[in-house]
Amino acid sequence: MNTNPKKILVTGVAGFLGSNLLSKLLLEGHNVVGIDNLSMGSLKNIEIHLSHENFVFLENDILDKSAIDALDTDFDVIIHLAAYKIPRYGKAVDTLRINSKGCENMLEFARSISCKFVLASTSDVYGMSNDLPFVEDGNCVMGDSKVPRWAYAVSKLYDEHLALAYMEAYNFPVVMLRFFGSYGPNQHLSWWGGPQSVFIDCILNNKDIPIHGDGLQTRTFTFVDDTVAGIYAAAIKPEANGEVFNIGADQEITILELANTIKRIADVPTDSKITLIPYDQISVGRKYQDVMRRVPDTTKAQRILGVKEKTSLEDGLRQTFEWQKNISLEKSN
Ligand SMILES: NC(=O)c1ccc[n+]([C@@H]2O[C@H](COP(=O)([O-])OP(=O)(O)OC[C@H]3O[C@@H](n4cnc5c(N)ncnc54)[C@H](O)[C@@H]3O)[C@@H](O)[C@H]2O)c1
Repeated sequence: MNTNPKKILVTGVAGFLGSNLLSKLLLEGHNVVGIDNLSMGSLKNIEIHLSHENFVFLENDILDKSAIDALDTDFDVIIHLAAYKIPRYGKAVDTLRINSKGCENMLEFARSISCKFVLASTSDVYGMSNDLPFVEDGNCVMGDSKVPRWAYAVSKLYDEHLALAYMEAYNFPVVMLRFFGSYGPNQHLSWWGGPQSVFIDCILNNKDIPIHGDGLQTRTFTFVDDTVAGIYAAAIKPEANGEVFNIGADQEITILELANTIKRIADVPTDSKITLIPYDQISVGRKYQDVMRRVPDTTKAQRILGVKEKTSLEDGLRQTFEWQKNISLEKSN
């Protein structure tokens, strides 16, 4: 148990990372106020903590300044997770608006109470860079503006710059965390949760497993406990202040291998076959660009935050499969 409890504000607390982080913060004895408008998160993710004496949940929107102005003013840390991800099916305005205005509102609040601010950024900011593995001070190479996916990366890059500019102008600490494909319990069961989520869902429901392009694009996947360990260390350790960190695992795997690994570990009979879907069929009428390789250099997080991936991909996928299977069973009962 932590001997120096802090009061921590978490935005996006009912989402995938937020709910897992909440469990860790309460376990460590901190006081947590969590905000979420439940647009993509769910009360079910945090229901076991709703009556915890050290937790207050506020169903608020971070775009609503009056709700932010009404918050307590004695926080030690703000962990800003609330955001919209890649606009796969339209809604780019939501991504741009929530990630820019929402972040600005939370930074203004941090400035007004002089409080440390931890920002959830993304590996997507490295964009089309070929400088592998991605190092925090490497180049961020954005693709064509007509490709909607870049709205997400651009909005998060803007957030990083805004946070650093606030730190310089108003003298309070900020930390930027670039997450690489986190997965595990409470992940969304659609593309919002990542490919592993869709592939497991397909196997459980005997549907074909859709893979975009030739499936040879690579990613790394981080079990959520390891992602949470990175967020926690960044929030607690003063050495993290003013820094950008990659938070991820470094086992590079093609999407095709990911699908085959999940098929292999699945302990249910399935007829699911892998189907390759050409990129021009994914987003008809909209231009699409994929990232062909994505691998983090994690040495900075190891050196300063003291965190390193603990859960192997196979172990993490097994745990995630079990969780998703139980969710599926609950739904069908
Ligand atoms: N999960 C990953 O692998 C990953 C990778 C890269 C970056 N990130 C970033 O980490 C953060 C958390 O990701 P996640 O996977 O938990 O996503 P998530 O969608 O599960 O969680 C985000 C939460 O924010 C809430 N939210 C959205 N707009 C809001 C608003 N206007 N006001 C209040 N709440 C709002 C949603 O309801 C949701 O509960 C995000 O900033 C995301 O961009 C995550």
